Amino acid sequence: MKLVIYGNSDFAELMYYYFTNDSKYEVVGFCVDKDFIKSDKFLDRPLVPFEEIEKIFPPNEYKMFVAVGYKNMRLRAKLYKKTVDKKYEHINYISSKSIIDESNIIGKNNAILHGVVLEPFAKIGDNNIINTNVTICHHAKIMNDCFIAAKSLVGGFTTIKNNCFIGFSSTILQKLIIEDETLVAAGSIVNKNSSKFDFLAGIPAKVVSNHKENGIEIKG
Ligand SMILES: CC(C)(COP(=O)(O)OP(=O)(O)OC[C@H]1O[C@@H](n2cnc3c(N)ncnc32)[C@H](O)[C@@H]1OP(=O)(O)O)[C@@H](O)C(=O)NCCC(=O)NCCS
Repeated sequence: MKLVIYGNSDFAELMYYYFTNDSKYEVVGFCVDKDFIKSDKFLDRPLVPFEEIEKIFPPNEYKMFVAVGYKNMRLRAKLYKKTVDKKYEHINYISSKSIIDESNIIGKNNAILHGVVLEPFAKIGDNNIINTNVTICHHAKIMNDCFIAAKSLVGGFTTIKNNCFIGFSSTILQKLIIEDETLVAAGSIVNKNSSKFDFLAGIPAKVVSNHKENGIEIKG
């Protein structure tokens, strides 16, 4: 089955590697917005303008995966939506080295990397990156457009709402509601519900600031 990846960043390279080595999909090309094209190839595959994508890779013949990283979380959500509007069918990458239960419900355009454990009844929405060795405990719910960094843990019955960033090795305790656009710093332990746009850090995590205006932007 033929697949087009939206993106030409490090994360797109990583997803190209995973799809090529650990899926039934063949990556036939990449696309980004015209203004971001500096060469007509990326990783030896055609790199085409998103504005003309339907002519080159029509949605009835090619599947799509949007591979946009975490640096600007609102942009991740916006770019995914643009490809949904063009009627592409988005597929998931689910590592063969992850542990998924048949009771899990998983949406579209998710990257579920090596060593991830989804306990029974966990639900994953659309366009999430669940990184290496993350554990999502039973009945937990990850909504849409989130990034969960390696070695994090989300407790049972907890809900992570939309467009949240959970830094490396964080623990979110059970039965919590983590509201839209919450940023959790690496190594934090969150033991209370968050409010929208909170930046939380530390053990136990405390509110450091709020990023309502620009959303979550991760430098470096
Ligand atoms: C959250 C993060 C993005 C903050 O970076 P930043 O915007 O540059 O913020 P700063 O480093 O200026 O920190 C702001 C405040 O939060 C505190 N803080 C930041 N990260 C913290 C952490 N992990 N634990 C405790 N406190 C932390 C800082 O000490 C600082 O406090 P101060 O104002 O009293 O000095 C960064 O700490 C982080 O965790 N990055 C995620 C890394 C990661 O998981 N990457 C995944 C790549 S795959």
